[in-house]
Amino acid sequence: AGSQLEEFTSVLEAAHKVTVLSGAGISAESGIPTFRGAGGLWRNFDATELATPYAFAANPSLVWEFYHYRRCIVAAAAPNAGHYALEALQRKCEQQGKLFTLLTQNIDGLHAKAGSSNVVELHGSMWRTRCCHCNNIQGAPEPMAKEANIPSMQLPRCKLCNGLLRPHVVWFGECLEVETMECAHNALEDCDLLLVIGTSAVVQPAAGFAPLVKAHGGAVAEFNTEDTPISDNCRFKFHGPAAVMLPAALGI
Ligand code: NAD
Ligand code: APR
Repeated sequence: AGSQLEEFTSVLEAAHKVTVLSGAGISAESGIPTFRGAGGLWRNFDATELATPYAFAANPSLVWEFYHYRRCIVAAAAPNAGHYALEALQRKCEQQGKLFTLLTQNIDGLHAKAGSSNVVELHGSMWRTRCCHCNNIQGAPEPMAKEANIPSMQLPRCKLCNGLLRPHVVWFGECLEVETMECAHNALEDCDLLLVIGTSAVVQPAAGFAPLVKAHGGAVAEFNTEDTPISDNCRFKFHGPAAVMLPAALGI
């Protein structure tokens, strides 16, 4: 394990372009449930079944209740040592004149709360909304009732056209925004080192990032409590909680 750390450190030192991909696992130690791990259940529903445009069309109150519930959890949470280690890594890379990009599948905003800048939020943000009618993007609505079964009259409405607002996130069956994908591809192209942290690597397109980097000769380092479908693409594997392993591996 000592030699893996030494080798990782020298690859990091030599890298000109460093990219990070994070998923739900990095926020686990902030008390935010992951999607596919244990304890990810919300009421009696599968969270991923609520994150679809069909679910929203069928029952916007239920989907809004789900996002309010998640926002309450995140509002009470703080970034952990893993988020802070990445913020410190970004500062260090930028001081050294390296290119650094943080891509996240998380919609919780905790990287920015830890001080990271220019975070690429692949799946949008739970702190923004979008009008279903005019597509205007606005802030999240006032913390609505903690109540269940939000009456449709009380669902959040667009300031401009009074259309129904939806969370500004990417749901299953939806595409990522074109500009977001461009940012991701620029960050992955020719990167020397990709850190993949706390993602089960089953949701596209992020699941394809590690194979892409490996194919062009970049090194991939995985930080996860378990193996994933992309583990075989990873030159470095740091098994354990991100809040412990990231500060240790990055020497921060
Ligand atoms: P997709 O929705 O067409 O699904 C692709 C495959 O994944 C399907 O075969 C589906 O059955 C399977 N799948 C669905 N739920 C799954 C689960 N819980 N675990 C494993 N597999 C599951 O396409 P996609 O590429 O998966 O998703 C479309 C886009 O939406 C992706 O870019 C994804 O990152 C994004 N997304 C965002 C959220 C969010 O809440 N922010 C949720 C889901 C997906
Ligand atoms: N430290 C590191 N990794 C952890 C920790 C931890 N403390 N706790 C859990 N993990 C790992 C799990 O082993 C798992 O591989 O984090 C991963 C979490 O996987 P998912 O819950 O599937 O989260 P993610 O990969 O981010 O999901 C992708 O799916 O529903 C969508 O849009 C949603 O962005 C999300 C996407």
